[in-house]
Amino acid sequence: MADLHTSYLGMTLPNPILAGSSGLTGNLTSLKHLEEHGIGGVVLKSLFEEQILQQIRRETDKGGVIYGYEQIDEYLSYFERKHEIGKYMELITQAKNELTVPVIASINCVSAAEWQQIAAQIAEAGADALQLNMFIPPFLPDVESSDIENEYFEIIKKVKSVVSIPVTAKIGPYFTSILSFSKKLLAAGADGLVLFNRYYSTDFDIETLSTKVGDYFSQAGEYSLPLRWTALLHDQFSAPITAATGIHDGDTAIKMLLAGASAIEVVSALYSYSLERIAEMKSRLANWMEQKGYETIDNFRGLMSQQRSAVPAEFQRVQYMKSYGDLKG
Ligand SMILES: Cc1cc2nc3c(=O)[nH]c(=O)nc-3n(C[C@H](O)[C@H](O)[C@H](O)COP(=O)(O)O)c2cc1C
Repeated sequence: MADLHTSYLGMTLPNPILAGSSGLTGNLTSLKHLEEHGIGGVVLKSLFEEQILQQIRRETDKGGVIYGYEQIDEYLSYFERKHEIGKYMELITQAKNELTVPVIASINCVSAAEWQQIAAQIAEAGADALQLNMFIPPFLPDVESSDIENEYFEIIKKVKSVVSIPVTAKIGPYFTSILSFSKKLLAAGADGLVLFNRYYSTDFDIETLSTKVGDYFSQAGEYSLPLRWTALLHDQFSAPITAATGIHDGDTAIKMLLAGASAIEVVSALYSYSLERIAEMKSRLANWMEQKGYETIDNFRGLMSQQRSAVPAEFQRVQYMKSYGDLKG
Protein backbone atom coordinates (compact mmCIF):
# COMPACT_ATOMS: atom_id res chain seq x y z
CA MET A 1 0.00 0.00 0.00
CA ALA A 2 1.50 3.34 -1.06
CA ASP A 3 2.19 5.72 1.79
CA LEU A 4 1.51 9.32 0.77
CA HIS A 5 2.91 10.89 3.95
CA THR A 6 5.75 13.23 3.29
CA SER A 7 7.97 15.58 5.23
CA TYR A 8 7.83 19.23 4.37
CA LEU A 9 9.60 22.10 6.11
CA GLY A 10 10.04 19.96 9.22
CA MET A 11 6.37 18.96 9.29
CA THR A 12 4.68 15.76 8.23
CA LEU A 13 1.99 16.13 5.60
CA PRO A 14 -0.55 13.31 5.15
CA ASN A 15 -0.02 13.79 1.41
CA PRO A 16 1.92 16.31 -0.70
CA ILE A 17 -1.11 18.19 -2.08
CA LEU A 18 -1.51 21.64 -0.54
CA ALA A 19 -4.37 24.00 -1.19
CA GLY A 20 -2.62 27.10 -2.52
CA SER A 21 -3.40 30.56 -1.26
CA SER A 22 -6.73 31.80 -2.65
CA GLY A 23 -10.30 32.58 -1.67
CA LEU A 24 -10.70 28.87 -0.93
CA THR A 25 -8.31 29.20 1.99
CA GLY A 26 -9.67 32.50 3.26
CA ASN A 27 -12.29 31.30 5.74
CA LEU A 28 -12.71 28.52 8.25
CA THR A 29 -15.68 26.80 6.59
CA SER A 30 -13.84 26.43 3.33
CA LEU A 31 -10.67 25.28 5.09
CA LYS A 32 -12.65 22.57 6.86
CA HIS A 33 -14.11 21.42 3.52
CA LEU A 34 -10.61 21.16 2.12
CA GLU A 35 -9.54 18.99 5.03
CA GLU A 36 -12.68 16.83 4.73
CA HIS A 37 -11.76 16.27 1.09
CA GLY A 38 -8.30 15.05 2.02
CA ILE A 39 -5.99 18.00 1.45
CA GLY A 40 -2.43 17.57 2.79
CA GLY A 41 -2.11 21.13 4.11
CA VAL A 42 -3.39 24.64 3.50
CA VAL A 43 -1.80 27.94 2.58
CA LEU A 44 -4.09 30.68 3.82
CA LYS A 45 -5.23 33.52 1.60
CA SER A 46 -2.58 36.21 1.75
CA LEU A 47 -2.68 39.19 3.96
CA PHE A 48 -1.87 41.95 1.51
CA GLU A 49 0.77 44.48 2.44
CA GLU A 50 -0.67 46.98 -0.02
CA GLN A 51 -4.10 46.62 1.56
CA ILE A 52 -2.70 47.09 5.05
CA LEU A 53 -0.71 50.15 4.08
CA GLN A 54 -3.68 51.60 2.20
CA GLN A 55 -5.88 51.19 5.23
CA ILE A 56 -3.28 52.82 7.40
CA ARG A 57 -2.95 55.73 4.99
CA ARG A 58 -6.72 56.19 4.75
CA GLU A 59 -7.11 56.24 8.51
CA THR A 60 -4.15 58.54 9.06
CA ASP A 61 -5.52 60.95 6.43
CA LYS A 62 -8.90 60.98 8.11
CA GLY A 63 -7.51 61.42 11.58
CA GLY A 64 -4.99 64.04 10.57
CA VAL A 65 -2.10 61.97 11.86
CA ILE A 66 0.99 62.24 9.72
CA TYR A 67 1.99 58.94 8.22
CA GLY A 68 5.56 58.37 9.22
CA TYR A 69 7.93 55.69 10.20
CA GLU A 70 7.52 56.16 13.94
CA GLN A 71 3.78 55.85 13.76
CA ILE A 72 3.65 52.61 11.86
CA ASP A 73 4.05 50.37 14.90
CA GLU A 74 1.39 52.30 16.74
CA TYR A 75 -0.96 52.08 13.81
CA LEU A 76 -0.31 48.44 13.22
CA SER A 77 -1.42 47.63 16.72
CA TYR A 78 -4.48 49.81 16.20
CA PHE A 79 -5.32 47.95 13.03
CA GLU A 80 -4.62 44.66 14.67
CA ARG A 81 -7.62 45.29 16.91
CA LYS A 82 -9.84 46.85 14.31
CA HIS A 83 -9.14 45.56 10.85
CA GLU A 84 -7.80 42.83 8.63
CA ILE A 85 -4.75 41.97 10.65
CA GLY A 86 -6.77 41.00 13.70
CA LYS A 87 -9.16 38.96 11.58
CA TYR A 88 -6.26 37.21 9.94
CA MET A 89 -4.71 36.25 13.26
CA GLU A 90 -8.10 34.91 14.32
CA LEU A 91 -8.30 32.81 11.17
CA ILE A 92 -4.87 31.31 11.89
CA THR A 93 -5.81 30.46 15.46
CA GLN A 94 -9.17 28.98 14.44
CA ALA A 95 -7.61 26.97 11.62
CA LYS A 96 -4.98 25.61 13.98
CA ASN A 97 -7.65 24.66 16.50
CA GLU A 98 -9.98 23.03 14.00
CA LEU A 99 -7.71 21.41 11.43
CA THR A 100 -5.23 18.61 11.83
CA VAL A 101 -3.25 19.38 8.66
CA PRO A 102 -0.51 22.05 8.68
CA VAL A 103 -1.61 25.65 8.35
CA ILE A 104 0.71 27.94 6.42
CA ALA A 105 0.03 31.66 6.61
CA SER A 106 0.82 33.96 3.71
CA ILE A 107 1.78 37.59 3.32
CA ASN A 108 1.85 39.39 0.02
CA CYS A 109 4.88 41.68 0.06
CA VAL A 110 5.56 44.52 -2.31
CA SER A 111 8.38 46.17 -0.35
CA ALA A 112 10.68 45.61 2.56
CA ALA A 113 8.54 47.96 4.67
CA GLU A 114 8.58 47.78 8.43
CA TRP A 115 5.85 45.22 8.82
CA GLN A 116 7.85 42.37 10.36
CA GLN A 117 5.66 42.90 13.38
CA ILE A 118 2.87 41.23 11.41
CA ALA A 119 5.09 38.27 10.60
CA ALA A 120 5.87 37.92 14.29
CA GLN A 121 2.16 38.00 15.14
CA ILE A 122 1.48 35.33 12.53
CA ALA A 123 4.00 33.07 14.22
CA GLU A 124 2.52 33.83 17.63
CA ALA A 125 -0.98 33.08 16.35
CA GLY A 126 0.25 29.54 15.72
CA ALA A 127 0.92 29.27 11.98
CA ASP A 128 3.10 26.28 11.17
CA ALA A 129 4.98 28.20 8.50
CA LEU A 130 4.83 31.45 6.59
CA GLN A 131 4.81 31.83 2.83
CA LEU A 132 5.93 35.18 1.50
CA ASN A 133 4.20 35.92 -1.75
CA MET A 134 6.65 38.48 -3.05
CA PHE A 135 6.41 40.71 -6.05
CA ILE A 136 8.43 43.87 -6.06
CA PRO A 137 6.93 45.98 -8.86
CA PRO A 138 9.44 46.28 -11.71
CA PHE A 139 7.66 49.18 -13.36
CA LEU A 140 10.05 52.07 -12.76
CA PRO A 141 12.44 52.55 -15.68
CA ASP A 142 15.35 53.79 -13.58
CA VAL A 143 15.33 51.05 -10.98
CA GLU A 144 18.02 48.45 -11.61
CA SER A 145 17.18 44.76 -11.49
CA SER A 146 19.80 44.26 -8.77
CA ASP A 147 18.01 46.85 -6.59
CA ILE A 148 14.75 44.98 -7.05
CA GLU A 149 16.35 41.64 -6.24
CA ASN A 150 18.00 43.09 -3.14
CA GLU A 151 14.57 44.13 -1.90
CA TYR A 152 13.50 40.46 -1.99
CA PHE A 153 16.53 39.44 0.06
CA GLU A 154 15.89 42.27 2.49
CA ILE A 155 12.30 41.08 3.05
CA ILE A 156 13.45 37.55 3.84
CA LYS A 157 16.17 38.75 6.19
CA LYS A 158 13.79 41.03 8.05
CA VAL A 159 11.11 38.39 8.45
CA LYS A 160 13.58 35.72 9.48
CA SER A 161 15.00 38.05 12.10
CA VAL A 162 11.68 37.98 13.95
CA VAL A 163 10.23 34.51 13.41
CA SER A 164 11.51 31.01 13.98
CA ILE A 165 8.84 29.18 11.96
CA PRO A 166 9.85 28.11 8.42
CA VAL A 167 9.52 30.85 5.83
CA THR A 168 9.16 30.12 2.13
CA ALA A 169 9.49 32.50 -0.78
CA LYS A 170 6.78 32.30 -3.42
CA ILE A 171 8.20 33.93 -6.51
CA GLY A 172 7.29 34.47 -10.13
CA PRO A 173 9.30 33.15 -13.08
CA TYR A 174 10.48 36.55 -14.36
CA PHE A 175 14.09 36.74 -13.25
CA THR A 176 17.13 36.82 -15.50
CA SER A 177 18.91 34.14 -13.48
CA ILE A 178 16.42 32.13 -11.47
CA LEU A 179 19.20 29.86 -10.31
CA SER A 180 21.41 32.52 -8.80
CA PHE A 181 18.40 34.44 -7.49
CA SER A 182 16.99 31.34 -5.79
CA LYS A 183 20.29 30.57 -4.13
CA LYS A 184 20.46 34.12 -2.80
CA LEU A 185 16.90 33.88 -1.43
CA LEU A 186 17.98 30.78 0.50
CA ALA A 187 21.20 32.46 1.62
CA ALA A 188 19.07 35.35 2.92
CA GLY A 189 17.24 32.84 5.12
CA ALA A 190 14.35 31.39 3.11
CA ASP A 191 13.65 27.80 4.13
CA GLY A 192 12.14 26.83 0.80
CA LEU A 193 10.84 28.14 -2.50
CA VAL A 194 7.46 28.08 -4.17
CA LEU A 195 7.78 27.94 -7.96
CA PHE A 196 5.88 29.81 -9.32
CA ASN A 197 3.23 32.34 -8.54
CA ARG A 198 0.78 33.14 -11.31
CA TYR A 199 -0.12 36.79 -11.43
CA TYR A 200 -3.28 38.68 -12.16
CA SER A 201 -3.23 39.46 -15.86
CA THR A 202 -4.60 42.28 -17.94
CA ASP A 203 -6.39 41.77 -21.23
CA PHE A 204 -7.98 44.07 -23.82
CA ASP A 205 -11.62 44.27 -24.85
CA ILE A 206 -11.34 45.23 -28.52
CA GLU A 207 -15.02 46.20 -28.81
CA THR A 208 -15.08 48.73 -26.01
CA LEU A 209 -11.35 49.52 -26.29
CA SER A 210 -10.99 49.05 -22.58
CA THR A 211 -8.86 46.85 -20.40
CA LYS A 212 -10.29 43.85 -18.65
CA VAL A 213 -9.04 41.14 -16.37
CA GLY A 214 -7.32 38.19 -18.06
CA ASP A 215 -7.92 34.56 -17.14
CA TYR A 216 -8.20 34.09 -13.40
CA PHE A 217 -7.43 30.42 -13.61
CA SER A 218 -4.50 28.56 -15.07
CA GLN A 219 -4.73 26.18 -18.00
CA ALA A 220 -3.47 22.65 -17.45
CA GLY A 221 -0.53 23.13 -19.86
CA GLU A 222 0.95 25.90 -17.72
CA TYR A 223 2.69 23.35 -15.51
CA SER A 224 5.66 23.02 -17.87
CA LEU A 225 7.44 26.13 -16.57
CA PRO A 226 7.46 25.07 -12.88
CA LEU A 227 8.24 21.51 -13.96
CA ARG A 228 11.39 22.54 -15.78
CA TRP A 229 12.62 24.82 -13.00
CA THR A 230 11.82 22.36 -10.25
CA ALA A 231 13.89 19.76 -12.12
CA LEU A 232 16.74 22.24 -12.61
CA LEU A 233 16.79 23.65 -9.09
CA HIS A 234 16.28 20.38 -7.23
CA ASP A 235 19.91 19.42 -7.81
CA GLN A 236 21.25 22.76 -6.67
CA PHE A 237 20.21 22.78 -3.01
CA SER A 238 18.47 20.67 -0.41
CA ALA A 239 15.81 23.25 0.56
CA PRO A 240 12.30 22.10 -0.38
CA ILE A 241 10.69 23.28 -3.57
CA THR A 242 6.92 23.56 -3.74
CA ALA A 243 5.63 23.33 -7.28
CA ALA A 244 2.71 25.57 -8.21
CA THR A 245 0.75 26.67 -11.29
CA GLY A 246 -1.08 24.50 -13.75
CA ILE A 247 -1.23 21.39 -11.57
CA HIS A 248 -4.68 20.15 -12.45
CA ASP A 249 -4.50 16.37 -12.08
CA GLY A 250 -2.71 13.42 -10.52
CA ASP A 251 -0.38 12.90 -13.48
CA THR A 252 0.94 16.43 -13.19
CA ALA A 253 1.39 16.05 -9.44
CA ILE A 254 3.47 12.91 -10.08
CA LYS A 255 5.60 14.79 -12.63
CA MET A 256 6.35 17.55 -10.13
CA LEU A 257 7.40 15.02 -7.48
CA LEU A 258 9.60 13.25 -10.05
CA ALA A 259 11.18 16.62 -10.83
CA GLY A 260 11.98 16.96 -7.14
CA ALA A 261 9.14 18.94 -5.58
CA SER A 262 8.53 18.33 -1.89
CA ALA A 263 4.90 19.37 -2.17
CA ILE A 264 2.58 20.83 -4.77
CA GLU A 265 0.01 23.58 -4.55
CA VAL A 266 -3.32 23.56 -6.35
CA VAL A 267 -5.81 26.37 -6.79
CA SER A 268 -7.35 26.60 -10.28
CA ALA A 269 -8.10 22.86 -10.38
CA LEU A 270 -10.10 23.15 -7.17
CA TYR A 271 -12.05 26.13 -8.47
CA SER A 272 -12.53 24.76 -11.99
CA TYR A 273 -13.57 21.22 -11.09
CA SER A 274 -14.44 20.63 -7.44
CA LEU A 275 -12.85 19.57 -4.19
CA GLU A 276 -13.36 15.97 -5.35
CA ARG A 277 -10.29 16.62 -7.47
CA ILE A 278 -8.14 16.19 -4.31
CA ALA A 279 -9.24 12.57 -3.85
CA GLU A 280 -8.82 11.89 -7.57
CA MET A 281 -5.27 13.23 -7.51
CA LYS A 282 -4.38 11.24 -4.40
CA SER A 283 -5.82 8.05 -5.79
CA ARG A 284 -3.96 8.48 -9.11
CA LEU A 285 -0.74 9.09 -7.16
CA ALA A 286 -1.26 6.05 -4.91
CA ASN A 287 -2.17 3.77 -7.84
CA TRP A 288 0.80 4.91 -9.87
CA MET A 289 3.14 4.34 -6.90
CA GLU A 290 1.77 0.84 -6.43
CA GLN A 291 2.13 0.08 -10.13
CA LYS A 292 5.73 1.23 -10.08
CA GLY A 293 6.54 -0.41 -6.75
CA TYR A 294 7.25 2.79 -4.82
CA GLU A 295 6.21 2.55 -1.19
CA THR A 296 6.93 6.12 -0.22
CA ILE A 297 7.21 9.43 -2.03
CA ASP A 298 10.88 9.65 -1.13
CA ASN A 299 11.44 6.49 -3.20
CA PHE A 300 10.90 8.47 -6.38
CA ARG A 301 11.13 12.16 -5.52
CA GLY A 302 13.64 13.86 -7.79
CA LEU A 303 14.16 10.77 -9.94
CA MET A 304 13.72 12.93 -13.01
CA SER A 305 15.56 16.03 -11.84
CA GLN A 306 17.96 17.41 -14.38
CA GLN A 307 21.06 15.62 -13.15
CA ARG A 308 19.37 12.27 -12.71
CA SER A 309 17.75 12.50 -16.08
CA ALA A 310 19.09 10.45 -18.98
CA VAL A 311 19.28 13.62 -21.06
CA PRO A 312 20.21 16.53 -18.74
CA ALA A 313 20.68 18.89 -21.69
CA GLU A 314 16.99 18.56 -22.54
CA PHE A 315 16.16 20.77 -19.54
CA GLN A 316 18.25 23.60 -20.92
CA ARG A 317 16.86 23.43 -24.39
CA VAL A 318 14.70 26.44 -25.18
CA GLN A 319 14.66 26.86 -28.95
CA TYR A 320 12.77 24.48 -31.16
CA MET A 321 15.34 24.38 -33.99
CA LYS A 322 15.10 20.81 -35.30
CA SER A 323 11.54 20.28 -34.06
CA TYR A 324 10.36 23.08 -36.32
CA GLY A 325 11.85 21.25 -39.26
CA ASP A 326 10.11 18.06 -38.17
CA LEU A 327 6.68 19.69 -38.12
CA LYS A 328 4.67 18.97 -41.22
CA GLY A 329 2.39 21.41 -43.00
C1 LIG B 1 -9.01 33.61 -7.00
C2 LIG B 1 -7.54 33.52 -6.68
C3 LIG B 1 -7.04 34.13 -5.53
C4 LIG B 1 -5.67 34.06 -5.24
N1 LIG B 1 -5.18 34.68 -4.10
C5 LIG B 1 -3.86 34.53 -3.80
C6 LIG B 1 -3.34 35.07 -2.60
O1 LIG B 1 -4.04 35.68 -1.78
N2 LIG B 1 -2.04 34.88 -2.34
C7 LIG B 1 -1.20 34.19 -3.19
O2 LIG B 1 -0.01 34.02 -2.87
N3 LIG B 1 -1.67 33.69 -4.33
C8 LIG B 1 -2.97 33.83 -4.65
N4 LIG B 1 -3.45 33.29 -5.81
C9 LIG B 1 -2.51 32.56 -6.70
C10 LIG B 1 -2.56 31.07 -6.37
O3 LIG B 1 -2.15 30.79 -5.04
C11 LIG B 1 -1.67 30.26 -7.33
O4 LIG B 1 -0.33 30.64 -7.14
C12 LIG B 1 -2.06 30.45 -8.79
O5 LIG B 1 -3.47 30.40 -8.96
C13 LIG B 1 -1.44 29.35 -9.67
O6 LIG B 1 -1.81 28.06 -9.25
P1 LIG B 1 -2.95 27.22 -10.03
O7 LIG B 1 -2.47 27.04 -11.40
O8 LIG B 1 -3.10 25.94 -9.25
O9 LIG B 1 -4.18 28.07 -9.98
C14 LIG B 1 -4.80 33.36 -6.12
C15 LIG B 1 -5.33 32.74 -7.26
C16 LIG B 1 -6.68 32.82 -7.55
C17 LIG B 1 -7.19 32.14 -8.78
